Amino acid sequence: MILVTGGAGFIGANFVLDWLATRDEPVLNLDKLTYAGNLENLASVQADERYVFVQGDIADTPLVMQLLDQHKPRAIVNFAAESHVDRSILGPEDFIQTNIVGTFRLLDAARKYWGGLSTNEQAAFRFLHVSTDEVYGSLSASDPAFTENHRYEPNSPYSASKAASDHLVRAYHHTYGLPVLTTNCSNNYGPHHFPEKLIPLMIVNALAGKPLPVYGNGMQVRDWLYVRDHCSAIRRVLDGGRLGEVYNVGGWNEKPNIDIVHTVCALLDELRPRSDGKSYREQVKFVADRPGHDQRYAIDASKMERELGWKPAETFATGIRKTVQWYLDNPGWVANVQSGAYSKWVQTNYTSRP
Ligand code: NAD
Ligand code: TYD
Repeated sequence: MILVTGGAGFIGANFVLDWLATRDEPVLNLDKLTYAGNLENLASVQADERYVFVQGDIADTPLVMQLLDQHKPRAIVNFAAESHVDRSILGPEDFIQTNIVGTFRLLDAARKYWGGLSTNEQAAFRFLHVSTDEVYGSLSASDPAFTENHRYEPNSPYSASKAASDHLVRAYHHTYGLPVLTTNCSNNYGPHHFPEKLIPLMIVNALAGKPLPVYGNGMQVRDWLYVRDHCSAIRRVLDGGRLGEVYNVGGWNEKPNIDIVHTVCALLDELRPRSDGKSYREQVKFVADRPGHDQRYAIDASKMERELGWKPAETFATGIRKTVQWYLDNPGWVANVQSGAYSKWVQTNYTSRP
């Protein structure tokens, strides 16, 4: 079996669902269930005998050691993280704890477990660390896209904490020989995306008749990848990635934020028109910029294609349509994630942005 951490979050849940749909191998999901973890994402596999869920922290070494000894996974895929840049600006501590200390403790538990395996089991074992393009910092409009050799220049507490975790993963390979793989992916979008991030926030705010808050001038560029393409890339790296290597994953799809917001509005105008006949674009509101806002991310994913034959299956046009449709089809999911702590976050982040 494989151990997935953070499998109740956005990408982790999509990964678990796709894994169980395409493979026979069981999955153990270790997730702390922070505000971002949502077991409703996994309701369709809850009764699947190949799926086991354990609520817990990757930094809880006794628990992780017990799970490794009991379930004997042949791989660990580490999604668990604090993942939202704005939250890292307002409160970095949790990011240091989970992304740095948590990854370190998980690595160390994996090293001890791996050290006790047979030679064949050791050779087959993989620790795959899921990371982000944000560790490379910000590009100007004319810079080439990030390759795996780009210097690390993280600018937010989030990206700095992910950069630290990437370095620890590298060190555990170099020093102890742990068979690690790292993926650095661009911005994901798709079903089960928590509506604190740009695309789901715009969809749910638009439908609720609320303002669509665009930071600064909306000209910052991100490189968007449909989440299931990210999941297929991770499977590909797990199957065929070279040990100790880093793989950049992206959608070859750079767009300024304002274009993304306009695309979402246009799809909603078509699929769920406003009752007054006006466009959802009327709800766009430019608000105070994010401090230290990175201007541009862009991934050069050619190593993934060259070495592993991976390419995204979705274009942005097909992926964003599926995504908007998913939110329209799942109002219950949206209502559930918006109860509880969500409204407090929205108030904290947006009332300070005139
Ligand atoms: P998310 O915030 O939606 O989910 C994170 C999950 O991790 C949640 O289920 C949460 O409960 C769990 N978690 C948090 N702390 C934990 C801990 N200490 N122990 C166990 N579980 C814990 O995040 P996501 O968007 O799904 O991102 C998953 C991974 O992919 C992260 O490592 C992130 O850095 C990386 N990534 C995300 C993107 C993106 O666009 N979302 C892009 C590239 C890389
Ligand atoms: P986000 O989804 O938070 O991802 P990241 O910061 O990790 O790239 O934000 C994507 C882009 O959208 C980023 O440039 C910030 C911007 N943004 C807004 O303009 N308004 C918002 O309300 C949010 C959440 C993000």
